[in-house]
Amino acid sequence: MCGIVAILNTTRYEDSVKQTISALERMEYRGYDSSGIAFIDKEHTLHRICSVGKINNLYTKCSSIDGTCSAIVGHTRWATHGIVTVENAHPQVTGNIAIVHNGIIENYNELKNIVNEPFTSNTDSEIISQLIFHYMKTGMTFKNAFLKTITMLEGSYAVAAICSDCPTTMLGAKKGSPLVVGSDQNHIYMASDAVALSQMTPNITYLEENDVIVAEQGSFQILENGTQQIHRNSVPNTISTENIDKGEYEDFMIKEINEEPAAVSNAYNKFKCSVNIEKYSTIHMIACGSSHYVCILAKYIIEKQKKIRIITEIASEFRYRCPVLNKDTLYVFVSQSGETSDTLGAMRLVLSQNMDTLAIVNVQESSIAREAKHCIYTNAGVEIGVASTKTFVSQLVTLLLTAGIDIPVMEVCKSINKVLNNTKNIFSTAQTLIKHKTLLFIGRGVCYPIAMEGALKIKEITYTPTEGYPSGEIKHGPIAIVDNTVCSVVIAINDDLYEKTMSNMEEIKARGGNIVTIGYKSNNICIDDEEMPSIFASITAVHMLAYYAAKLKNLDVDKPRNLAKSVTVE
Ligand code: F6R
Repeated sequence: MCGIVAILNTTRYEDSVKQTISALERMEYRGYDSSGIAFIDKEHTLHRICSVGKINNLYTKCSSIDGTCSAIVGHTRWATHGIVTVENAHPQVTGNIAIVHNGIIENYNELKNIVNEPFTSNTDSEIISQLIFHYMKTGMTFKNAFLKTITMLEGSYAVAAICSDCPTTMLGAKKGSPLVVGSDQNHIYMASDAVALSQMTPNITYLEENDVIVAEQGSFQILENGTQQIHRNSVPNTISTENIDKGEYEDFMIKEINEEPAAVSNAYNKFKCSVNIEKYSTIHMIACGSSHYVCILAKYIIEKQKKIRIITEIASEFRYRCPVLNKDTLYVFVSQSGETSDTLGAMRLVLSQNMDTLAIVNVQESSIAREAKHCIYTNAGVEIGVASTKTFVSQLVTLLLTAGIDIPVMEVCKSINKVLNNTKNIFSTAQTLIKHKTLLFIGRGVCYPIAMEGALKIKEITYTPTEGYPSGEIKHGPIAIVDNTVCSVVIAINDDLYEKTMSNMEEIKARGGNIVTIGYKSNNICIDDEEMPSIFASITAVHMLAYYAAKLKNLDVDKPRNLAKSVTVE
């Protein structure tokens, strides 16, 4: 969460404000409650401009300023410590120091005792600029004060710092949060991810844990653990800006839902497996949010078809419950972003005990992809909408192929396309949903994780209280909420559990609850009969349903409130 960017103009003063804000816009998926920039002008004065809300507000605020500078830092925020205000936005400035930070400084309260200046924000991050400023006052250089400061920080950080007394220096450090660096003839760049630098530098270097960047006198060095200079390979920055364009679509989310057939084919055609899962007695799948639901869905299919024992678990629980690990188990970490802090933390725990790990990741060169023993990319392409859609189906394809289950890709894509063309029925079902205060998504077997996925999407982008539940479980409690203000979305494909789900639907009807259905013989959103295609088509249907419900409520589907796409804090 939070995106940082920093530019050092190495040969001349340049107005880098627009470039910085464009980079922030490309990272807006990381957080978008406030944003800001700080730059050093020709007179060596430090300017800070911040605004609350989407980056567009910052753009408007900066539209008429002269941003000619030697160095600039920028930030887009997802609030952790301190409410959303201009004061709590980044860059945080103390005296002549400006910093931008992604991560959480866990010992910031303790560190406050070291410094004397009054704090101007409620953030944990301000301690970084305060400490650098403090150590410079004791006589240290900017670089040494920065190095000293980062040794004192507990928690996670990707941080960039500039100092108006050293206008040609830019410093950065990484621990637990991603940071990339790149350069061209006239600039050195740092950012949270490659997307931010996609129009700026053709090559980028991914920093390793505890690396420090020292950019000065026109070039940069990477210091391992802040001490020894080290060479890190650079890679081509292949992310094209075309992929991060809405094209003909109104929103990224609907564009990405429409890309679900392509995501299925790409995941299938580009699948490359480097691990033989037959040698393991158990597959333990670990993930967060929608990626976790994909694991549950894959478990149902794989256990039934392949008789392989699968365990699924939420990463934030797994990592702190002192799990007993097993050499006969393959630990599979599923993540779109490859940066989710809990999934990464869980994977590091498994790696620290020398167990086998497989990452199933969409973002190439992300931390989870790079650190896992084996990695398979899902190849869904860049996903910008905060709610995951096309990556969900690509993760499912990848997990099934990994388990040796073939997928009838043509039939799957055909069934998804039928759903995509069924806008009229999905739209009218969404109209029914938004008339209700509370929603209940239910399903059995493979339809249970799809119900949870539907409920999560509805919550995320329509803010409607919604439960996702196994159909057979509602009589054990949730049915108590049913009355005519509740609408239940019943998901049932043509499988051996269909009749049972229909009975559960009758139980809801008998209590005055309203119903819409997705699946076999549905009057609302009818899905093809074949099992595998119908699973994928039902996923697309819940994505579309959530999308239209949010549009009918006039909400921002791509950037729902309180969320961020890349969850790099625990
Ligand atoms: C839901 C959603 C989130 C993510 C979760 C894990 O629409 O997008 O629940 O699935 O934050 O993210 P990744 O897959 O990047 O680890």
